[in-house]
Amino acid sequence: MVKSSPIVLLTWSLILFHRSAGQHDCQDISDDFFAAQIILSFASWKDNGVKQHIAIYYNNPGFKHGDKIELHVNDTAKIQPFAKYYYPLTMNGFVYFMDIDISSLTYESQSIYQQQCLGYSASWIRNGTIRKTNCLSTHPDWMYQRRKMLEKVSLSSIIIPGTHNSGSYLKNPPVSLIEKFTATQDGSIFDQLIMGARYFDLRPGKHNDEYWIIHGDYLMTPLQKTIDDVKQFMNNTQEIVFLHFKEFPQGFETKQDHQEFMKYLKKQFGTHLVLRRNSSWKSSFKHIWGLNKRLIILYDQNSYKSVYEMWPSIPQMWGNVQSRDDLRKYLAFVETNITRPRVSMAELTMNTYEIITHSIAEAFGMEHTSLRQKASLIGPHVTQWYNKFFYENASIIAVDYLNATGIVEVALEWNDRKFSSCYNSYVDLTKQYNTKKNFIITGV
Ligand SMILES: *[C@@H]1O[C@H](CO)[C@@H](O)[C@H](O)[C@H]1NC(C)=O
Ligand SMILES: *[C@@H]1O[C@H](CO)[C@@H](O)[C@H](O)[C@H]1NC(C)=O
Ligand SMILES: *[C@@H]1O[C@H](CO)[C@@H](O)[C@H](O)[C@H]1NC(C)=O
Ligand SMILES: *[C@@H]1O[C@H](CO)[C@@H](O)[C@H](O)[C@H]1NC(C)=O
Ligand SMILES: *[C@@H]1O[C@H](CO)[C@@H](O)[C@H](O)[C@H]1NC(C)=O
Ligand SMILES: *[C@@H]1O[C@H](CO)[C@@H](O)[C@H](O)[C@H]1NC(C)=O
Ligand SMILES: *[C@@H]1O[C@H](CO)[C@@H](O)[C@H](O)[C@H]1NC(C)=O
Repeated sequence: MVKSSPIVLLTWSLILFHRSAGQHDCQDISDDFFAAQIILSFASWKDNGVKQHIAIYYNNPGFKHGDKIELHVNDTAKIQPFAKYYYPLTMNGFVYFMDIDISSLTYESQSIYQQQCLGYSASWIRNGTIRKTNCLSTHPDWMYQRRKMLEKVSLSSIIIPGTHNSGSYLKNPPVSLIEKFTATQDGSIFDQLIMGARYFDLRPGKHNDEYWIIHGDYLMTPLQKTIDDVKQFMNNTQEIVFLHFKEFPQGFETKQDHQEFMKYLKKQFGTHLVLRRNSSWKSSFKHIWGLNKRLIILYDQNSYKSVYEMWPSIPQMWGNVQSRDDLRKYLAFVETNITRPRVSMAELTMNTYEIITHSIAEAFGMEHTSLRQKASLIGPHVTQWYNKFFYENASIIAVDYLNATGIVEVALEWNDRKFSSCYNSYVDLTKQYNTKKNFIITGV
């Protein structure tokens, strides 16, 4: 993240993109574009991370032949901002645009706590007229923007986007193989917060008397960095944030280790911490905002939880699956059969065998894959599954490489729909439409 980059991205007229709850009157249902969606995401195929690709996921039950999607590039770094056209063949699918320069995807630091577009937007065009537009956007204040709607509902009733192994990110291109297979994110916790994630999966350990975020056996980032990121964000927004501390892979042997750690967390986050005795998952957003504290720590250490003020852990549903079909099956199971609140771990895992074979392949300059590549391939599918099938019961969703999915957009869209007077119309349209076999992938 190049916050100080001189390449400034334009904050487009957000009015154009601003969506608010209940904006649709159900009369709109006769409009072909009532439920139309365009969601942009981006990721890198390559571990050097320099070139990114943009994926546009599009979906419109009211599709007509001849409709097309247009990508707009608004990038001052390019002398001639350009636009590209593609023609979707079906009513939904996704399109990839290759080789976008990463420097064009930075956000502007002056207005970091306001939603802003990151240089790319896409429009759905019918007969020469733009009918729907969305941009690749940050979401630093989505809860507060929806406060009227959220005040009335409980924490467990909305979809909350989050990240898996949130502290395992690398600023620079990974140099070693180990890094390649342990990194699960591109951005710091601060970046993830700005992009809209509100749930963080954190595995702290103690090494030489310092707390670290650890993945497997590897020290990823000093915990203090994460804490500072969260504090900075909390200080500047009204968002409610969940940190899930679990696993404690190193240096936590005794009860005292946990006591010390909790004391440290309380000291660090004191004024922001929502105490367990004052609230629960059934509390409304209004209640939490009323406490004037917005940070919730879920602490996964059963024997100590009752003594302290952190919230108890919730189930993290992790399928440990290697293929797209298995992930879909697993998520279908979780979203149908497991009660909320719970975290759905919507990512692929590489098993030891895969890591070894891919490492060897790489050493010999052969085709290989990494977690990043897996995440960029699965990202649009996860977006699609939640948008079409799992929106109803979804709770917290934790993904790898947040930017590579549209999960934030899907969560916000379905939260808005769920609490609008048109919810049933949206569900009916989605279900009717799901019965048609119309999903294709268009690679460009
Ligand atoms: C691109 O940026 C310019 C300058 O801020 C703005 O006038 C224009 O409307 C933007 N274009 C799009 C497509 O948003
Ligand atoms: C497309 O637009 C033109 C002119 O704006 C109009 O004459 C024509 O009927 C439209 N076609 C369709 C299929 O709506
Ligand atoms: C998403 O991409 C932006 C722009 O490249 C980057 O600054 C940020 O760190 C990424 N965020 C996450 C959460 O990966
Ligand atoms: C956040 O605000 C608190 C209280 O106002 C202050 O002590 C702390 O230094 C701030 N931290 C950051 C990272 O801005
Ligand atoms: C939280 O709970 C404690 C103990 O029940 C109570 O003393 C305190 O006033 C509560 N705080 C708020 C803000 O409700
Ligand atoms: C949910 O659980 C039931 C009963 O165990 C099972 O029959 C069903 O297949 C499960 N649903 C999914 C989608 O896995
Ligand atoms: C939501 O959960 C309920 C209760 O477990 C289940 O009956 C229902 O089928 C689920 N809905 C979907 C769309 O999976």
